[in-house]
Amino acid sequence: MENNRKIPVAVLGVTGMVGQRFVQLLARHPWFRITAIASSERSAGKKYRDACHWLLDSEMPPEVGELVVQLAQPTLDAKIIFSALPAHIAREVEPLFADVGYSVCSNASAFRYEEDVPVIIPEINHDHTALLEKQKKNRGWKGTLVTSPNCTTSGIALPLKPLHEAFGIKKIFAVTMQAVSGAGYPGLSFLDIGDNVIPFIGGEEQKIETETLLLLGKIEGSQRIPANITISAQANRVNVKEGHTICLSLAFAQKPSREEIISVLENFKGIEDMPDLPSVPKQILIVRQEEDRPQPCKDRHANDGMSVTVGRIRVCPILDFRMVTVSHNTLRGAASGSIMNAELLVVKKMV
Ligand SMILES: NC(=O)c1ccc[n+]([C@@H]2O[C@H](COP(=O)([O-])OP(=O)(O)OC[C@H]3O[C@@H](n4cnc5c(N)ncnc54)[C@H](OP(=O)(O)O)[C@@H]3O)[C@@H](O)[C@H]2O)c1
Repeated sequence: MENNRKIPVAVLGVTGMVGQRFVQLLARHPWFRITAIASSERSAGKKYRDACHWLLDSEMPPEVGELVVQLAQPTLDAKIIFSALPAHIAREVEPLFADVGYSVCSNASAFRYEEDVPVIIPEINHDHTALLEKQKKNRGWKGTLVTSPNCTTSGIALPLKPLHEAFGIKKIFAVTMQAVSGAGYPGLSFLDIGDNVIPFIGGEEQKIETETLLLLGKIEGSQRIPANITISAQANRVNVKEGHTICLSLAFAQKPSREEIISVLENFKGIEDMPDLPSVPKQILIVRQEEDRPQPCKDRHANDGMSVTVGRIRVCPILDFRMVTVSHNTLRGAASGSIMNAELLVVKKMV
């Protein structure tokens, strides 16, 4: 699509860890073009290249570098708003945009648990956009607010969706090893995380437990019914730059064989009526057979960081099966996931 026919979009929190990913991805997106960027008072009024400490390994897109950072106020020249704001700021700011007609696609946790705000990964629950009708009625907004799940939840819910559909998951035990970039920039001091593992990430275990059940749940009428699964999560911060690793043990209603698990994962193309979106990877779930994979530094970039890699699938002597997943926290788990949600809204004619 020619640049001037693309849909104008803005990024809030554009200088941060996730904001930078949005800039990198949107600069080459086939349908969207960045027309406005916003951050805090610290950055507002400066050109992006002066306000942002660019951390990614590609060059900052020069045309975005020339844009002036604005305040996060609902007067930005755009139709879609990608929000990479801290949750307490998102709580105040995102409704102001939705109220006056913008389509807000948020990475923040501020509204994920409200009954009329969908948490979406298109391949596993694109039908949850049905909640937006209720959202409009409840709130009287001219626009909409759709959220992406927490970065760790993506690496759990995506592989578990087809397994849940095929064999019925009854219990999930999840232990995470989460990258430092998940804490934003500048994040943790090297003196805290270097040579260390921190067995606590504030609020993370509750987020994983709640959001996984929302994502694996279903919509009945305009109600979201969480999946009936017992889940226990333990979250750890580890000295890895990008890519979250998760060890899962699962109990099933109908115990599958290892071969059946692999077949279901490898053949997953998304749920029924999955629309064709530019950001959907050609292989959503990749199964590795090597005994020492997946690893974040080797697998996080699979299919532009959009595939979840699963390995070490084997019998569990406590539950039924165990496995390890790796997913990219700022791509699949944040900016790319949110961009895919915006693509979904466009295809469903909700923008
Ligand atoms: N990092 C991840 O892997 C990840 C994954 C999924 C979801 N998320 C969520 O995505 C959001 C952003 O995370 P992050 O890791 O990118 O955080 P971050 O690196 O700390 O970036 C925060 C951004 O918010 C801006 N900001 C702060 N206060 C503001 C205000 N009052 N008004 C407007 N902008 C303000 C900052 O701008 P200034 O530079 O101007 O201060 C910065 O651009 C959070 O809600 C986080 O939980 C993060």
